[in-house]
Amino acid sequence: MQDKLITIKKLLQMKQAGQKISCLTSYDASFTRMIEAAGVEVLLVGDSLGMVVQGRESTLPVTLDEMIYHTHNVSRVRQYSLIVADMPFMSYRSPSLALESAGRLMKEGGAHMVKLEGGEPQLESVRRLSSQGIPVCGHLGLQPQSVHKLGGYRVQGREAPMAETIRQDASSLQEAGADLLILECVPAGLAQAVTRSLSIPVIGIGAGAATDGQVLVIYDMLGMHPNPPRFVKNFLAQNGSIQLALQAYVDAVRDGSFPAVEHSFQ
Ligand code: KIV
Repeated sequence: MQDKLITIKKLLQMKQAGQKISCLTSYDASFTRMIEAAGVEVLLVGDSLGMVVQGRESTLPVTLDEMIYHTHNVSRVRQYSLIVADMPFMSYRSPSLALESAGRLMKEGGAHMVKLEGGEPQLESVRRLSSQGIPVCGHLGLQPQSVHKLGGYRVQGREAPMAETIRQDASSLQEAGADLLILECVPAGLAQAVTRSLSIPVIGIGAGAATDGQVLVIYDMLGMHPNPPRFVKNFLAQNGSIQLALQAYVDAVRDGSFPAVEHSFQ
């Protein structure tokens, strides 16, 4: 099992070797066991749980205590994967609050890394967390916690100024100490350029096939989204069981067949 243990160093080696990283969201013990049985490297306890578990309209109402609860459900049974926990809306609005929130996610929840949304405004918090030995995952492109500011869940970075901001933010996050980056809903060409320009691994969702890995919300890839976005593939439809669907997802990420062009944005 020690060999299988996923660390930041291992993810970095995978990027360098051109091996794709698979990631899925998980919010509970039962799915965590099945996801790990399929060989996923990174478990994301996403604040998407606010929508897919709690039935809320957005991720904004999710609390830090709820994130800790779900992260603990996952970490209690986790065997080898790296657990990334989302910092919920307003839990990192200053560097000192970010430190306190991240500390609770790690100490009480058992997270190995915390994720926060945003670029330039978050650099100070990323520096503070990183200097305290807390691994950080950045999140650029579509940032669901900013849905009201963005006016909806839309592709980001199609126009040159926004694309340049994303490129610059990605590089600044790496420089500030981020260990991993999630790129959500950006054109495939932009995601490829960002992935090539960074030494840290980049995981995409709706960001094309050229990123170092892929993530999906587990309920979405099991066909449970009532109105699935373009980047989602239902892996249960042709695979007969949840375990086979999870295995098909991991295989497709590893061999590069997911995402296909029809799951990507130009
Ligand atoms: O909350 C979440 O599940 C996420 C993924 C969609 C990347 O942030």
